[in-house]
Amino acid sequence: MRQIGIAFCVMLLGSSVCFAGKRVSFNQNWRFSLGEVANGQDQDLNDSQWRRLDLPHDWSIEGEFRENAPSGTGGGALPGGIGWYRKTFTAPLSAKGKLTFIEFDGVYRNSEVWINGHYLGKRPYGYSTFEYELTSHLIYGGGPNVIAVKVDNSQQPNSRWYSGSGIYRNVWLTTLDPIHVEHWGTYWTTPQVNTSSATVVIKTQVANGSNSAAPVNLTTIIQDANGREVARDTAKAIAERNSHAAVSQTLKVASPVLWSDERPYVYKIVSQLDQGGRMVDRYETPLGIRTFHFDVNKGFFLNGKAVKIRGVCNHHDLGALGAAVNTRAIERQLQILKDMGVNGIRTSHNPPAPELLDLADRMGFIVMDEAFDMWKIAKTKFDYHLDWDEWHKRDLEDMVLRDRNHPSVIIWSIGNEVMEQWDKNPTGGTIAKELGAIVRKLDPTRPITSACNGVSRDNKVLTEGDLDLVGTNYAHGKLPEFAKMFPGRVIIGTETNSSVHTRGSYRMPSDEILRWPRKDEDILKISPTYECSAYDNSTANWGSAHEETWKLVKNHDFFSGMFIWTGWDYIGEPTPFPWPAISSYFGIIDLAGFPKDPFYFYQSEWTNAPMLHIFPHWNWKQGEKVDIVAYYNNADEVELFLNGRSQGTKRKQGGEMHVFWRLAYEPGMLKAVSRKNGRVVLTKEVRTASEPARIVLIPDRKTIAADGSDLSFVTVKVVDKDGTLVPAADNLIKFDVSGAGSIAGVDNGNQISHEGFKGKQRKAFHGMALAIVQAKQKRGQIVLKASSNNLQSASVVINTR
Ligand code: GAL
Repeated sequence: MRQIGIAFCVMLLGSSVCFAGKRVSFNQNWRFSLGEVANGQDQDLNDSQWRRLDLPHDWSIEGEFRENAPSGTGGGALPGGIGWYRKTFTAPLSAKGKLTFIEFDGVYRNSEVWINGHYLGKRPYGYSTFEYELTSHLIYGGGPNVIAVKVDNSQQPNSRWYSGSGIYRNVWLTTLDPIHVEHWGTYWTTPQVNTSSATVVIKTQVANGSNSAAPVNLTTIIQDANGREVARDTAKAIAERNSHAAVSQTLKVASPVLWSDERPYVYKIVSQLDQGGRMVDRYETPLGIRTFHFDVNKGFFLNGKAVKIRGVCNHHDLGALGAAVNTRAIERQLQILKDMGVNGIRTSHNPPAPELLDLADRMGFIVMDEAFDMWKIAKTKFDYHLDWDEWHKRDLEDMVLRDRNHPSVIIWSIGNEVMEQWDKNPTGGTIAKELGAIVRKLDPTRPITSACNGVSRDNKVLTEGDLDLVGTNYAHGKLPEFAKMFPGRVIIGTETNSSVHTRGSYRMPSDEILRWPRKDEDILKISPTYECSAYDNSTANWGSAHEETWKLVKNHDFFSGMFIWTGWDYIGEPTPFPWPAISSYFGIIDLAGFPKDPFYFYQSEWTNAPMLHIFPHWNWKQGEKVDIVAYYNNADEVELFLNGRSQGTKRKQGGEMHVFWRLAYEPGMLKAVSRKNGRVVLTKEVRTASEPARIVLIPDRKTIAADGSDLSFVTVKVVDKDGTLVPAADNLIKFDVSGAGSIAGVDNGNQISHEGFKGKQRKAFHGMALAIVQAKQKRGQIVLKASSNNLQSASVVINTR
């Protein structure tokens, strides 16, 4: 990626003027109008009354949930529609003679872009990154330029999950010398790696947009994580006019530090072009040196070591922020997953925001980068199948070109549960082969899979698709037979589980797994409150419980790993419930970012630091039989006490991964003590709460950057007079923010709440809520206050620097 240059942007007569360095953010000061606008692309259209906003922006998240929304509850029951964006800017005279490009990381969907009334093009797929050249249409040194973008997400439904609408990812403006490294113009491979040295082959495309052939020197430097140079090579290149030169260089890194999920060490490749002593371009590419392979019998190996992929699938929305990309919000999602012990992410079912891959490189996640949820055959009426013929090659190529330099990307997935799997005309195999060939041409170093359900020999994508990895979704009962079903082939769990839970909700008995029926009336008989149990006893009827699945995966070495459906809840697809449910139950972490209890199951199995978790809460009816479950590690046993009386010591037995007690409820305190060799490792207490008395605010960070985008996620708890969380509390909490920030969103993880994510109040749900505070571009203090009738209010100060 190109280094981000320094931009000096000033406001002049309402338009922003950018004296661009190389690549600058182009997110600020756009105008937006919801709905169709006649001639919205005209340069002289008066947009002064349009709403002013900064990108990234998602207009759907600002809308209201409606039962009859054309997107359906699958799409989150939020509005789609058409929106127009315009930005007025001036190009300095110094940019004349240079080339200027605008790059959109992603626009959902059917974007069309104009510069000064000239049509630049259309991009149907809402998850692709694309750029246009502006050079010949710009007015330099004065007259305003207008970029106009029409976004059309009006044809609904077009997605099985919440997509968001608008320019929901970042936008960049790049100004380049005619001779430059092409967009996505580098590609590294590491054909030889051992502890004493690594060979890094770097291919660079040098573009020449000038009118004469240009001899240049390309100097390629590898820097370690501290910016120290560890290798360098200079090569000569001659790019013909309006053409490209491909340069291949081989560099050696001595004693390389290898990239892994546990130690994500990232080098940097700097490509410098100079012409007659003048540096004309500088381009940066992340480099991670690692080896990996998939073994038919033993699964995945990273740097020679067997590593089980402990992954999750995630959709792209960021809860209350909608689809609008925010780097800190993505980082928080990944941090919470890391705390759970996750080491893999599947970008279901589309190319992610580039920021996610940057973070995955740095935080150590093994990424399955996925292209499509459908091919030629529709899943929803207006989805991408309509664009398939014209666009799939381009979209797939662009994903690979954009993402192939991320060390975190280890697997390409060309599709998810595509309908062609069982097509009578055997297109499943032929399309899979075609897609595989597109990918291999651009990157032969990573295996290709497709996530397939109905795992069997009848599945054409699996049997005829030329896949490197047999991608299996569900069918856990047959998992032990997969190896025999596909002899000699590597097998991975592209999608597993589909357990469904509501945080803080418990259905007993805890040891009876409910696979939810499909009929609404049966579902609502089981749970009229639209909640699913947070014990490990609740899954979609094609799914499997966490412990049952992990046991199978853990005990079958040939099974390279799993990607659980899902790490986080997402908006849309509220299986098993109909309206009023509008967000998913599949997450191990709820929409607000609060862990559900299975989070601790994985922590006990997937992390090494000592942990102990007992649940549920301790507010029940006198005498009621209650199941108490404990997840723990680094200990031989757990003893449970109720009001000081031992209820017995339990050990995990016969391969079990939890212990449990069934007790008659009496108010008071539960205390669990884990011990190893007779010595106490940890203790945990759960107390009976009395009436809600006050609010507690807990920010995840007390100091954030004064950059207009950084966030502090403030957990809100309703507690009793002694500070114990009140599990049934649903008090309406009102927020007030002053100073150097604003509220970017509110949430509580309740899957049937229709309160606005963009409001300033939220009911507590099982005692908790969330306020997301965003910094302005101003140093100072943000004061967040939370109040509620009959509760003692609270406030917290967040500093912006
Ligand atoms: C899978 C599908 C996912 C999601 C999940 C819910 O079959 O690939 O996108 O719909 O089911 O269980």
